[in-house]
Amino acid sequence: MKSLPRLGINIDHIATIRNARGGDHPDPIAGAYAAIQAGADGITAHLREDRRHMRDEDMVRLQLLCESENIPLNMEMAATTEMLKIALELKPKAVCIVPERREERTTEGGLDVAAGHNTIAPIVRALKDNGSRVSLFIEAVEPQIQAAARSGADVVEFHTGAYAHALDDGDEIKADAYVEAFTQSAKLAASLGLEVHFGHGLTYENVSRIADIPECMELNIGHFIIGEAIFLGLDPAISEMRRIVMDSRES
Ligand code: PXP
Repeated sequence: MKSLPRLGINIDHIATIRNARGGDHPDPIAGAYAAIQAGADGITAHLREDRRHMRDEDMVRLQLLCESENIPLNMEMAATTEMLKIALELKPKAVCIVPERREERTTEGGLDVAAGHNTIAPIVRALKDNGSRVSLFIEAVEPQIQAAARSGADVVEFHTGAYAHALDDGDEIKADAYVEAFTQSAKLAASLGLEVHFGHGLTYENVSRIADIPECMELNIGHFIIGEAIFLGLDPAISEMRRIVMDSRES
């Protein structure tokens, strides 16, 4: 059996539900604790510029929880001075730099590392010097992979959103083309010394083909699992995802 990819659980949307009423319930940190008890290998949370889900104090509490549970916190952030300052103070085990536009519903498209080298590379360096493992959320295309390697990042996370949409639309040919691109891109990234992760829009239906890519070391999954948890509870929802990932590696 090939080694299993780690399962990072993104808890942003527990905070989305909390924020709908502006109070403290449901507490995303309690959700993170439940996810850890259910076997999450890491907790991911995105501190957005507009604080639409996670709040600054959530990140502090999450870091304390993850430290005490010996589980990595993966902080997603935009490449801005404000976020860099927060990440340097927080010292999460991992940081994933993502593109961010205020008007978008979620993280649409990957980071343009090739065009943004002069902004991104110093941020990568500062975070690494501060002890965080740094990942860049990119499209699986060669120029971005090469640029990610030049920036000094440790990891690339390939954006699986368009692949997920292709399957939602029933376009198997397009989805297969994405899987082929992920497979080749993962090989290239690994040959450049980059660890390979995948995330965005992953579900029970579409995760197998991604988990099956040999270089896939981590999957970051949020919206679908939090949605399923409404029906099943967090523990069974995570366990089922873990089972599907395990089966895809064994087959
Ligand atoms: N990975 C990254 C870098 C993301 O920005 C997101 C969404 O915040 C995810 C993974 C998780 O995506 P989803 O919530 O669609 O599972």
